[in-house]
Amino acid sequence: MNKKLVIAVDGYSSCGKSTVARELAHKLGYIYIDSGAMYRAATLFCMENNLLGDEQKIISRLNEINIEFRLNPVNGNADTWLNEVNVENRIRKIDVSDNVSQVSRIKNVREKMVAIQRKLGEKKGIVMDGRDIGTVVFPDADLKIFMTASPEIRAQRRFDELVAKGDNISLDEIISNIKKRDQMDENRTESPLRKADDAVVLDNGNMTRNEQMEWIMNLVASKIQ
Ligand code: DC
Repeated sequence: MNKKLVIAVDGYSSCGKSTVARELAHKLGYIYIDSGAMYRAATLFCMENNLLGDEQKIISRLNEINIEFRLNPVNGNADTWLNEVNVENRIRKIDVSDNVSQVSRIKNVREKMVAIQRKLGEKKGIVMDGRDIGTVVFPDADLKIFMTASPEIRAQRRFDELVAKGDNISLDEIISNIKKRDQMDENRTESPLRKADDAVVLDNGNMTRNEQMEWIMNLVASKIQ
């Protein structure tokens, strides 16, 4: 039987990490975990309980946060559940996105999430995407991929998505939002976004989805034998 790997996919916002990581997990028959969804769910808990802005209060109520991933029988994806409620759609909304940085930078929040993430990876056969997976969560991961593309290219993709959904937003607005998020991810004190020394860089600016998968599957093949 093939060796089961732990695969870490880190990188900047709007790089297509989750699309690549989910597809990779699907191809390999592995579990896919979106670690950003966990920070989003924790943020939603803080919003619903009026805890934002008070780190001590957030920390004192961390033990009330129960996050799980459960298989959605309709689309085969793992949905995020917070305290027995399916919050998969809710956590993608803009108000959660706007508040997630202030929750995900809290050390105790990160410690709790990392403990859950490590537990999920115990049996291997997992692809996890995020910002600190190769550096903090699984420093011994079998394969570490660091995804990047220029802010302009990422913004253009996001712009196309939003326009297709009927949003009225300017490309400049998106570029500046992406640059701001990069800056926050890279400069926070706790587990900043950083390429692990042994991570392989995937600059997907000029690559199609198929080209990216082919590139990654070659790497995976070299690790499995
Ligand atoms: O990947 P995403 O945009 O859904 O992540 C949501 C937020 O959580 C984002 O602000 C970065 C943060 N995050 C993090 O700090 N560490 C991770 N492993 C994953 C996400």
